[in-house]
Amino acid sequence: MDKLVIEGGKKLKGEIRVSGSKNSTLPILAATLLTDEKCVIRNVPKLRDTLTMIKLLRSLGKSVDYNNNIAVISGPANSSTAEYKLVSTMRGSFCVMGPLLGKFKTAKVSLPGGCVIGIRPVDLHIKGFKALGAKIEVAAGYVIATARQLKGNLIYLGGIFGPSVLATGNVMMAAVLAHGETIIESAACEPEVEELTEFLIKMGAHIEGKGTSRLVIRGVKRLHGAEYDIGPDRIEAGTFVLMAAATGSTLTLKNVKYAQLLVLMDRLEHAGVKFKKGKDSLTIIGPKKLKPVSVTTYPYPGFPTDLQAQFMALMAITQGVSVITDKVFPDRFIHIAELNRMGANIRRDSGVAIVEGVKYLYGAPVMASDLRASAALVLAGLAAKGKTEIHRIYHLERGYENIDEKLKKVGAVIYREKE
Ligand code: EPZ
Repeated sequence: MDKLVIEGGKKLKGEIRVSGSKNSTLPILAATLLTDEKCVIRNVPKLRDTLTMIKLLRSLGKSVDYNNNIAVISGPANSSTAEYKLVSTMRGSFCVMGPLLGKFKTAKVSLPGGCVIGIRPVDLHIKGFKALGAKIEVAAGYVIATARQLKGNLIYLGGIFGPSVLATGNVMMAAVLAHGETIIESAACEPEVEELTEFLIKMGAHIEGKGTSRLVIRGVKRLHGAEYDIGPDRIEAGTFVLMAAATGSTLTLKNVKYAQLLVLMDRLEHAGVKFKKGKDSLTIIGPKKLKPVSVTTYPYPGFPTDLQAQFMALMAITQGVSVITDKVFPDRFIHIAELNRMGANIRRDSGVAIVEGVKYLYGAPVMASDLRASAALVLAGLAAKGKTEIHRIYHLERGYENIDEKLKKVGAVIYREKE
């Protein structure tokens, strides 16, 4: 087990290439279950989570070759049961349920564990499968879905916290082979859902409304193999944008679609950050002094919940008061305690976080807890005075490909040590 050591206070300079999107990759890999033919997926980031999904596909009988960020998946699946031991390590695995049900008319998938950001229910997934005619049983920690034939339907898929990214993908993947037309109202519009839709259309699915909150799916008899290049990871890109702002650096990101980062750029421009936009690059010019800015997270195109922790870490070193609210995962504040251990002054007050910016954070030993909270600790370590040690960095490795190497290349003093 490694820990990450960061000597703070260094400016970043140069270029970072953003990797492929983790949250596009997971459902697209799952979608290959909908065909026995060969699929080639490029720019697949090498992450704990993508390796877990590859393990899960192999446990279902698919043959998967993965080298140099290219995954070649083929062959028929020979099981429709996704075991607890794999699904419990990664909630995203639940999105194999839709393709298994769509292709085999039966699926048995372990209920995903909760996690530190919230209870993570799957009621919307189940509502969608039932609307398509599946019989659902929940027993012994598994969801079991069976259907003689899936039939298209009109489905409202909005939850009390708004649309669901993975429920939209799961229900869409069950509907592409159903009889007739399915309309998903209040579908998630995240770019990752748009990429999944693109891939399904390449496989021969009939889907209209790509990237909108209304998806119209006309079921087809079968899907064929396809090739796909995963787009850039907007959350990884946003994390580096915030790191540049936190260290007062000028940093250029390559392989980035800044049109997916408009809300982050808008908030940071209010804080005094400047941007230079290139065709598929973005240069961030971090100011000497930042101004406090409040954010509330919402479903896309609102401020992403997956950047909330990192933004809070930035506001922690911004003189003045900012208020941070997470409308998607209201309890996603586990990072407050660790940031306060580094000298931040943040308190929770009936569902919001009130951040009183301090002049400096001080390096300290801290504990990673979930993927984006870990990224917030790296950002804090880069900006802090002194040395920060981040323990349990496997959380970070779930979603950031070679983040220490990428940061070292642009001037950060960051290295791994054995625990
Ligand atoms: C996806 O999770 C992402 N994960 C999450 O990123 C991201 O935070 C989240 O979308 C929101 O953008 C992947 O794509 C693998 P949701 P997902 O269903 O789909 C509630 C990361 O750091 N809800 O969109 O599981 C839910 O509790 C991860 O990369 C229900 O009520 O999230 C939440 O409040 C963390 N019932 C809201 O909807 C359901 O059946 C949005 O969750 C499903 C969800």
